Amino acid sequence: MSINEQNASELELQHVHNVYENIASHFSETRQKPWPNVVKFLSKAVIGSIILDVGCGNAKYFTDTFNIFQLGCDRSRQLAEICRTRNHQVFNCDCLQLPVRSNCIDFCISIAVLHHLATPDRRLKALTEICRVLTVGGQALVYVWAKEQKRNSSLSTYLKQSKTNKINTETLNEGQSNKNYHINQIKVDLPVHTNRSNFIHNDLLVPWKLNQKKLEGNDPKTHLRYYHVFEETELRLLCEQIPNCKIVDYYYDQGNWCIIFEKLI
Ligand SMILES: C[S@@+](CC[C@H](N)C(=O)[O-])C[C@H]1O[C@@H](n2cnc3c(N)ncnc32)[C@H](O)[C@@H]1O
Repeated sequence: MSINEQNASELELQHVHNVYENIASHFSETRQKPWPNVVKFLSKAVIGSIILDVGCGNAKYFTDTFNIFQLGCDRSRQLAEICRTRNHQVFNCDCLQLPVRSNCIDFCISIAVLHHLATPDRRLKALTEICRVLTVGGQALVYVWAKEQKRNSSLSTYLKQSKTNKINTETLNEGQSNKNYHINQIKVDLPVHTNRSNFIHNDLLVPWKLNQKKLEGNDPKTHLRYYHVFEETELRLLCEQIPNCKIVDYYYDQGNWCIIFEKLI
């Protein structure tokens, strides 16, 4: 069976939401450094602006500024809790249905979140929600993982961090397509990606190794996160379906496709 509207939410529950709940503190430890082009986008905010970070993770894009109102939301309770211990205003929700009034957010970011939604309709719904909450003239920046991890002959940071690729950038570590994982409850088979290798498939499971050895004396536990990696035009084509949305910029940044759009009316 393939991924469809019926099994997509169950797939996301098991292989996105449950995984983030389990890896939250380890994930947070590894996510400290903000990406420069996201920071540049957020620097457009002026005194009194309202910023919303959809799928904010550990709130790494929040700053100490007191005259800009920063809000975040995430499906993961554990990650939202980590944000709250840092005194950030973060609430739990699904990006498919933002509990936010229309027309009230000046700047919205959603970084590395939409690639966890399992169908094109769900990805479009999330983008439409972001557009709905923006003020007229408000802008959003969305990043998603790109299927293309090599561009203009340079490797993305993701591939560069592979020991094999560091040694020889000509012969890239190829993704493995033969190891499939069967998700019992929804009867879907998805390939398990080899970390730091090229993507062969568009829908896949990416392992996250949680080292619990010290805690429990067990082997490291591996969690499988579902990803849809985007091809070059996909994100732009989705945004073009939103009637009151104008694309301001579309670019590739370190293995991600990135879009800035503005709400028109
Ligand atoms: C790769 S992390 C990115 C976190 C953060 N944006 C960053 O750049 O560090 C993906 C985040 O999206 C959240 N997420 C995944 N699916 C979501 C959904 N349907 N609704 C809201 N948040 C979601 C996860 O809980 C996780 O915090």
